[in-house]
Amino acid sequence: MTVDVSVLGKPITFRNGMKAPNVFLKSAMTERLCTYDKKDLEARGKTTAEYEKLYKVWGEGEIGVIVLGNIPIEREGLEAAKNMIIDKSNTWDAIENLKPVIAASKAHGSLVIGQLTHGGRQVSNEIVDTPVSASDIQCPPMGGMEFGKPRPLREDEIEDLIDRWAFGAEALYKAGADGCQLHAAHGYLLSQFLSSRVNKRTDKFGGSLENKSMIVFRVIEEIKKRVDTSKFLISIKMNSADFADGGLTEEESRTVAQQLDEAGLDLIELSGGSYESMAFEHKKESTKKREAFFIEFAEKVRPMLKSAVLCTTGGFRSAKAMVDAVNGGATAMIGLARPLCAEPYFCRDILSGKITEARENKGDGGISTGLAIMQLAAIGAGKDIPDLSDEKTVQKLVNVLMGKGDEDDKPIKDQESSSYAGQEKAS
Ligand SMILES: Cc1cc2nc3c(=O)[nH]c(=O)nc-3n(C[C@H](O)[C@H](O)[C@H](O)COP(=O)(O)O)c2cc1C
Repeated sequence: MTVDVSVLGKPITFRNGMKAPNVFLKSAMTERLCTYDKKDLEARGKTTAEYEKLYKVWGEGEIGVIVLGNIPIEREGLEAAKNMIIDKSNTWDAIENLKPVIAASKAHGSLVIGQLTHGGRQVSNEIVDTPVSASDIQCPPMGGMEFGKPRPLREDEIEDLIDRWAFGAEALYKAGADGCQLHAAHGYLLSQFLSSRVNKRTDKFGGSLENKSMIVFRVIEEIKKRVDTSKFLISIKMNSADFADGGLTEEESRTVAQQLDEAGLDLIELSGGSYESMAFEHKKESTKKREAFFIEFAEKVRPMLKSAVLCTTGGFRSAKAMVDAVNGGATAMIGLARPLCAEPYFCRDILSGKITEARENKGDGGISTGLAIMQLAAIGAGKDIPDLSDEKTVQKLVNVLMGKGDEDDKPIKDQESSSYAGQEKAS
């Protein structure tokens, strides 16, 4: 079917006047391609040639906005081993370390923003015995991972974390990035604060929605003091809902989105779920035809936003669904993750009309995130990207994920461990 994709190639102008060349946003994906040492904290989180290569490739792919990371702001708050890290305690310079990666990503006109994160209670016990969180509500085991009972953060530690997020944003700014993204989705630390299921605090950071979201607004305030906001986008990835009893509701999420817009945020990316309730799949029958998991929520939020650009991520696979979503007014930007692991030039090929939909993914569903991480490793290593439209390839990689792979597949296997990979294993 031929589709007029011209609307996808139109530039997006943010409130500060910065422009993305088109509507595509490469959503944050843990790459697991940086350095890691179990004991030596200083030796964690430095970029590698593979990490740089991956972003060089995406930089060639005509993606409007590329989101780097997951990038933890504290070297024990990792989403997983081998995350890139910006930690103010390190003696090495994250700015110099990141400059070549950012330059490679921007080389052909994409805007580049870095996703700044902290895992909170979702940091596995392979990394810390006692994670920190809003309260002491433990994350249940998931996908082969276990989590220690968290220690509630003291107020002075929350202040330190706010400073760390701002330090991370400033480092990205100085390294040449076009913006930062606060990861407040998927059950990580900021999302833990937003959730009444996890946040049982009785101080100013808990209780009402205003208090639960205070940490997010304090981080934004602090970032604004450290960067020139006419040249740097501040964005957030947030859940449309947590899909767990007592977690962030759709109504709360709408209120927070509106307040973020009023607080001057440039870009709001919508997602959903947490380790307790995976949501990179259809939660509703009604969204299946439209592909995007959170499109109905986006439709309710978009009219509430005066200036922030809305991006909806999750599920988009065909040019038709993307065009319909933009033309129908549900979303301004189209967020993509798994299709850009299988086909890093997916956006370029959609825009040129070479293809009209993502390649079939026979590993879709339960195991797709782990498989996607293997594809990222292949791109970084300059190897052929495993083709998940091929049943045999999928089976081979699934065996590797299950620890039954050949020695030959070992470098790929090293990329897969815990967190985002584990989320899908659990579902
Ligand atoms: C390999 C992989 C790693 C991911 N890592 C992150 C991450 O670090 N931060 C994040 O916000 N989302 C992460 N996600 C979620 C994606 O950004 C996206 O929200 C989700 O995959 C749905 O989009 P899709 O259907 O286009 O894949 C990851 C997804 C994949 C496949």
